[in-house]
Parts: sequence; structure tokens; C-alpha cells
Amino acid sequence: MTTDQALAPAIRVQGIGKSFKDLQVLRGVDFDVRAGSIFALLGSNGAGKTTLVRILSTLLKADAGTATVNGFDVGEKPGEVRESISLTGQFAAVDEVLTGRENLVLIAKLRHLKNPGAVADGLLARFALTDAGNRKASTYSGGMRRRLDIAMSLIGNPPIIFLDEPTTGLDPQARIEVWQTIRQLASQGTTVLLTTQYLDEAEQLADRIAILHKGTIIQNGTLAELKQLLPPAQVEYIEKQPSLEDVFLALVGDTAETDSTEADSADDDGRTHGRVPAGKEKQ
Ligand SMILES: Nc1ncnc2c1ncn2[C@@H]1O[C@H](COP(=O)(O)OP(=O)(O)OP(=O)(O)O)[C@@H](O)[C@H]1O
Ligand SMILES: [Mg+2]
Repeated sequence: MTTDQALAPAIRVQGIGKSFKDLQVLRGVDFDVRAGSIFALLGSNGAGKTTLVRILSTLLKADAGTATVNGFDVGEKPGEVRESISLTGQFAAVDEVLTGRENLVLIAKLRHLKNPGAVADGLLARFALTDAGNRKASTYSGGMRRRLDIAMSLIGNPPIIFLDEPTTGLDPQARIEVWQTIRQLASQGTTVLLTTQYLDEAEQLADRIAILHKGTIIQNGTLAELKQLLPPAQVEYIEKQPSLEDVFLALVGDTAETDSTEADSADDDGRTHGRVPAGKEKQ
């Protein structure tokens, strides 16, 4: 591998602009995403996160600027870009009438993979959905549906995935499960660009965080870099109170399989314990 290839970003966004009639949503957005990293695009409702993801996934044309994904220009090589990515949209794309397994088999067939059944079974196992695989997706909880949605988007092993608000609307346990899934993907070399409006999600997952505000990236850095933007915290001795999320997770547990038809998730002695939630490990 040449030095150039080693340094080439998986995603490069330069001066991207987009307006809808009089509404200028993106006004010159710039950032790079390193291959194999998790990059979080943080912004409030209406900041333009989905608009940017749609441009990068070739669903929408930019008015200005350029962007490359996996080395391909989104405007000039949309076919190659699409082959390099998967997109999990803000609203789940699973077919409710089909079972989880049927959803996966369908996509594997559409992608002309050799053994769709085996691909589906492998993904069901990887996403802790084996037991629920033969149930209709309409019976899944929000977290299970999200995991199935992400599993579907991984068929064909794209090197880059876009996740648009992957945990919006999920309860704390389901969010932690989805976070674990995302970390696992990145640890296997997949580049992840995710959008979120949750600060803690970016804090938990991202190698770099960019803040999209009023059409441009107003900050871009690691969590440590962003924290340094504020004056150092005053040192005070206070008793650390658990957050409501800590209490909630300690009371209900944080097991990976949340299939409500399975045995309940209490421990052997029937009690739950005040464990540290798995998603807190990175702090
Ligand atoms: N096709 C469209 N036509 C007109 N306006 C649009 C269109 N798509 C998006 N917009 C507007 O562009 C702005 C940015 O929308 P976008 O969906 O990108 O925001 P977002 O950051 O994803 O917000 P959210 O967090 O609510 O998902 C909003 O004001 C939205 O109404
Ligand atoms: Mg959006």
C-alpha cells in the first residue's frame, strides 16, 4: 500500500452546499472521515444531517462542492459509490409482513449473493436475532427492528456505512445494543458515518465528532479536543450521584437479547444487580 492510499480518507466532503428553494440548508460543508473510524455528525433537528447523508449516498445532488466516498466522486461515479456503501435511514426499512429471516434473505437475493439462507442465518446470529428470526418483523421491539435494519444494510459487506440517527426512539437498553453493534462493525474495519442529535451517543461511539450548525461544520475534533474548547473544570469534591439512566439500567438489567417472548432477563436468584451498563465502558 502506498502512503497515499494509507492516508486517503474513506469520505471527503469539500464545500458542499444545498438549498431547497429559498432555504439554504448546507452552506459549504467540509470534513474528512478516516477509513475504519466512527465519525459522528451532530446537529439539532433540521440542521441538514439527513440532507448531507442523502448527498453522500447519491440520493440527492449537491448544488455546490464535491464529495468522494471510497475514492469515488458522488456526482460522477454514483454507481461505484452505491456499491461501496450501505445506508440505514432515519426510518427503518424492514418489511413488516416478512419475518426477520425473510427480510435478510430477500436483500441477499437482490444482491445476487450465492447462499442467501446462510447469509441470513449468519447475520441473525451476529445480531442476537436467531430466536426471533422466524417471527414477523411487525412483532419486533424497536431495538430488534433497528438491529435487523442494520443487519440488512450489511449484506454484501460494504466498506462504508451511513447510519442516520440509529438510536432515535429507542429505550436505553436498545440504544446500548445498537451501540455495541456499531462498535463491533468499526472494530472489523468498516467506516461508520453516523448522524445523531444525542451528545452522549457521539461521546460513547465516535472517534471524531463534527458539529453541523447553520449550514456549516462549526467544530470538528476528537472528544478530548472538543472538551478542551471549554475552560478546565473547577475541581470540587462532590458525591457522585448515579444518573437516572444508571438507575434504570441497574433495575431492569442490560442483557443483549431483549426478545420479550423469551425467558425474562432476571439473574439466577431472580434479582437484578447494580452492574455498570456495558455501554459505559468507554467513558
Ligand atoms: N426535499 C426537501 N424539500 C424541502 N425542504 C427540505 C427537503 N429535505 C429537507 N428539507 C429541509 O431542510 C432542512 C434540513 O433537513 P434535514 O432532514 O436534512 O435535517 P436533519 O438534520 O436530518 O434533522 P432531523 O434531526 O430532524 O432529522 C429542514 O429545514 C427541512 O425541512
Ligand atoms: Mg434527519
